[in-house]
Amino acid sequence: MKILVLNGSPHLNGATSDMVNAFAKGTREAGHETVCMNVAHMQVRGCMACEYCREKEKGVCVQKDDMQKIYPEILSSDMIVFASPIYYFTLSAQLQAVIHRTYAVDIPANVKKVALIMSSGSKFVYGAAITEYFQSIVEYWNVENAGIFTANGEENKSEKKRQELYEFGRSLKG
Ligand SMILES: Cc1cc2nc3c(=O)[nH]c(=O)nc-3n(C[C@H](O)[C@H](O)[C@H](O)COP(=O)(O)O)c2cc1C
Repeated sequence: MKILVLNGSPHLNGATSDMVNAFAKGTREAGHETVCMNVAHMQVRGCMACEYCREKEKGVCVQKDDMQKIYPEILSSDMIVFASPIYYFTLSAQLQAVIHRTYAVDIPANVKKVALIMSSGSKFVYGAAITEYFQSIVEYWNVENAGIFTANGEENKSEKKRQELYEFGRSLKG
């Protein structure tokens, strides 16, 4: 299957990217086509709520920024993985902007499963991000939650976490 990873960490060699790389390696070894996009290094503005995508041209966003490169990947993937560092108890603003901008395409009918990968400094900081993930993505899109993975403190960039994410990627079927 085609898998898209939307990574909202600005650290290209950070803890979130470390988990994403291990996951992607596992998926590719299992024969999947995996595309990783670091959305924190792309220009994605917030939704302007102009309603052009709903009222004028269905599915078309008036903002011509890097979201134009992300939309085709969202609309052609079987699985989407949301990856982010925790900033102030939630997803990074960069990933949040991408999620808000899916308003233009609404529910991507091609997506069958999703997963969430998060890195943080402390334990017990994932509640808001997990709630958003379930409400805005899993339930709204009506897709399968394939897994939620977290690393905090010394777990970040650890061999144990790399192995966990690699095995998750390697185990994916479909
Ligand atoms: C702006 C900002 C806000 C943060 N807020 C939190 C937080 O609320 N809780 C927490 O445990 N860590 C917080 N952190 C720490 C990051 O989540 C942590 O360093 C994470 O491992 C970074 O992942 P990365 O290497 O992929 O960027 C924050 C870091 C930054 C820069």
